[in-house]
Amino acid sequence: MSWPSFLRRKSPGDALERQLAELQRAAEFHPTPSSVAREMLELAEVGPNDVLYDVGSGDGRIPILAAQEFGCRAVGIEIDPKLFRYSMERVAELGLEERVSFQQQDFFKADFRPATVVTLYLLSSVNDQLRPRLAAHLRPGARLVVLDYAIPGWRPEKTMAVKSLADVQYTLFLYRRPAIPTNGTGTAASDVKAQAC
Ligand SMILES: C[S@@+](CC[C@H](N)C(=O)[O-])C[C@H]1O[C@@H](n2cnc3c(N)ncnc32)[C@H](O)[C@@H]1O
Repeated sequence: MSWPSFLRRKSPGDALERQLAELQRAAEFHPTPSSVAREMLELAEVGPNDVLYDVGSGDGRIPILAAQEFGCRAVGIEIDPKLFRYSMERVAELGLEERVSFQQQDFFKADFRPATVVTLYLLSSVNDQLRPRLAAHLRPGARLVVLDYAIPGWRPEKTMAVKSLADVQYTLFLYRRPAIPTNGTGTAASDVKAQAC
């Protein structure tokens, strides 16, 4: 995995970087290579008017990259207290507090309603469990970019193969919430499996 440029610019002996290396050995945290993260954000055409949510944000690299290079506001949701703390420290170090925030919580209980773009790097079984909540919360036209593990039952608008700098192949799936009528509470009236997202 290659380190993002904002980490490389800092001194290699940096205590935060060492702490991150330890966290990466933990099984559940698999960071998206930053070049691939950049392609995800380009695929979703993220811009300054967007509010991006990274669901299971790990070390916070996607929200940070989105704010730094795409100019949007970004939120990361991360359950692991060490990764959450690390992300908060990186944001403070980079002076991005006004545009990037993190919530230490279970993403199955998170409020996605402010999001215009969502990024996911989770197993398809987890995406399947998140699907009804995403369908209920996300506004028409909201985009989702999913790395490697498609959302079961939703048809991607676009599928793209990309390679990391280390020559590892990944698949990106772009979904867009349809402009369907709501039931008056802001909740999508239907979330029928096997329909287009
Ligand atoms: C595969 S990593 C992806 C990290 C980051 N999104 C990226 O692409 O670099 C998945 C992350 O989800 C977090 N996670 C797992 N279950 C979670 C839950 N129920 N609520 C919030 N975060 C969770 C893990 O701690 C881990 O950091």
